[in-house]
Formats: sequence, structure tokens, C-alpha cells
Amino acid sequence: MTIKACVFDAYGTLFDVAAAARHVAADPARADFAAQWPKIAADWRDRQLQYSWLRAITGHHCDFWQVTQDGLDWALEAAGFADDADLRAALLGLYWQLEAFAEVPAVLDRLTKAGLRCAILSNGSADMLNGAVSSAGIGGYLDAVLSVDEVGVFKPADAVYALVPQHLSCTAGEVLFVSSNGWDAAGAAAFGFQTAWVNRAGAPTDRLFAQPQHICRDLTDIPKLAGV
Ligand code: LAC
Repeated sequence: MTIKACVFDAYGTLFDVAAAARHVAADPARADFAAQWPKIAADWRDRQLQYSWLRAITGHHCDFWQVTQDGLDWALEAAGFADDADLRAALLGLYWQLEAFAEVPAVLDRLTKAGLRCAILSNGSADMLNGAVSSAGIGGYLDAVLSVDEVGVFKPADAVYALVPQHLSCTAGEVLFVSSNGWDAAGAAAFGFQTAWVNRAGAPTDRLFAQPQHICRDLTDIPKLAGV
């Protein structure tokens, strides 16, 4: 089926979620943090996601900024930085201006010039997403920035993926959904999107209920997969 829209997950797919911790680790005054930052960044992301899933299945929804702070607090305490309010503030502040991965602007440019609609569908809250989109300078390429705020549950709930056909006036089969999260790619494939999993880390395939049609190392191949 012809692809009419490319829809991207945000964190880890368009935006580099490790960038915040990497920036802070580059500060010479933060040698103690620099020694542990990859583990802290990984713990932060793991807890943020676990909390989102647990809240989704129990109905205890909150916005993504809350699980982002809760995940960071867990990661900082685990690493012995529970009392470092300045570190916490620095990491959280940077989360609002994450870098886009290097190939993102050129890929979005090619897709939009070919007439495809492009959008974000993210667990992020609308204000977090707007901050990251504007600091990465990619707003001009996007027809929609869709947040789970609208449905009050996190991905991979079907209600979230259903926002795409509602907002972009297309069928699920006309959407190429792109995510670096294996669980998100599985949810999107099960919903009926054509799906590409961006496996930047060379991770094993998730053993879940559905498989993505495509696997790529970064976003460079997305225009080809979308048929443009
Ligand atoms: C998102 C996170 C989960 O943007 O990557 O939805």
C-alpha cells in the first residue's frame, strides 16, 4: 500500500535522549558524574519507560514530565547523587532542548518535498515535545506533533496509535511508523501501521506480539522504505 504519512516516535528516534547526560558529563567540574554517566542515563531511560508502562496498565496516568523526573530521581539515588539538586536541575533542563540525530533534518526534508505528511507521535507531553522540536529546528517539516496527553494513556496502548489516522486523515496501512523502541514498533505493527524499527544500538529483536516489517540502523533509509 502507498505510504501517505511518516510518523516518528520522539525520544531515542528523532531526539538523542543520552545528550542531556553527555553534556553534563563534559563539564570538568562534574568528574564524579562523568565516571558514571552512561549507567545513570541508561537507568534514567529504563525507569522512565517502566513507570510509563506501569501507569498505563494500572490506569494511574500522569504526564511524561512526571515519569521523566521520577526516573531520574531513581537513577540519581542509585548512583549516590540523591542530594545533588544542581545536577538534577541541569539534567532536567537539558531534556527540554535535546539534540536531533544528525540525519534527521535531511530525511524530513526529503519526505516532505516528496509530498508525504510527517508527524511525531510520542509519550512526551505537548510542552516537552514543543520545546525539543523548536530547539532542534524541525517544526517546519511537521504536519502534527501528537502527544498522548490527548488520550491520557501511554504507548503502546492502541488509543495512542489511533490518534494518527484521526489527525492525518489516512488509514493505518498508509502510515510508515518509525521508532527506535522495539516495544513501540511492536505496538505500532500490531495496530496495523507499516513499521520500521531503528536499531541504532544493534540490539536483539524484542520477543513480542508483533514484528516490524523493516529494521534499519538510522533514519537514512526511511525515504526509500516510504517509496520516495
Ligand atoms: C516517545 C518515547 C517513548 O517519544 O520514546 O514516545
